[in-house]
Amino acid sequence: MSAVEIKSVVKVFNQGRADEVLALSDVDLTVGVGEFVSLIGPSGCGKSTLLRLIADLIPATTGTVTVAGKPAGQARREQAYGLAFQQAGLFEWRTVRRNVELPLELRGIGRAERRARAEEMLALVGLAEFAGHYPGQLSGGMQQRVAIARALAVQPPLLLMDEPFGALDEMTRERLQSELLSICAKTGTSTVFVTHSISEAVFLSDRVVVMSARPGRITAAIEVGLPSRDEAARQSPAFFDRITEVRRALRGAPLASEATN
Ligand SMILES: Nc1ncnc2c1ncn2[C@@H]1O[C@H](COP(=O)(O)OP(=O)(O)O)[C@@H](O)[C@H]1O
Ligand SMILES: [Mg+2]
Repeated sequence: MSAVEIKSVVKVFNQGRADEVLALSDVDLTVGVGEFVSLIGPSGCGKSTLLRLIADLIPATTGTVTVAGKPAGQARREQAYGLAFQQAGLFEWRTVRRNVELPLELRGIGRAERRARAEEMLALVGLAEFAGHYPGQLSGGMQQRVAIARALAVQPPLLLMDEPFGALDEMTRERLQSELLSICAKTGTSTVFVTHSISEAVFLSDRVVVMSARPGRITAAIEVGLPSRDEAARQSPAFFDRITEVRRALRGAPLASEATN
């Protein structure tokens, strides 16, 4: 069974109206269990739309979206995934701990277990001592880590992230990338990650899926396969080779392997 299976998905917004938009045309994508897949492409190519379809926040016009073998709607109701977006989206009047507890409350999980799980997730993102703070008392990077802890709190088999580090400075971003990878490795989570940063996509992913400008289509999928994900990996020839491959794919140029034939 796959974590996500998207078959022949088309998404039209405002169908039949003057402002009709063909956002996605005929998208097929499979994400394996435990796999980390990034979606990259020019602004407006449908990355967020694709993520929202997986999350069942919007319906597909045609085609099917399956999450962990179930229709996307059923997966949403069973909270089979965690969500984190570019804006942390925390509730200002709730403490950090109670923000992380929220999805557990919605699931009807009892107080003691909620508390324990929130503490565990906050420790994982290095914020245990800030559990009693309010979001306004934290830096942007810390708020983003709270949002990630909240997304992970239900221990979802699938994590959907839309430019979650977009608003962060480069140093914080790199640290959170490493944290995210170690969390995913520990928990065996499958991830679909939207970014417009080529180096971020390459560093994080098992596979980088490249999309074309509107109407969004998948034009290339690049297997990354870095031997490690540490500081050395960021300096390695393999890292730069993959970056070049993704950049070429984004420009619509043939891959190096094809160009030499
Ligand atoms: N709710 C909506 N109604 C109408 N058009 C939309 C809506 N959401 C997205 N779009 C359009 O669909 C296209 C893809 O948008 P989006 O998925 O947000 O792109 P990306 O995340 O890659 O920047 C864009 O042309 C956008 O204007
Ligand atoms: Mg977007």
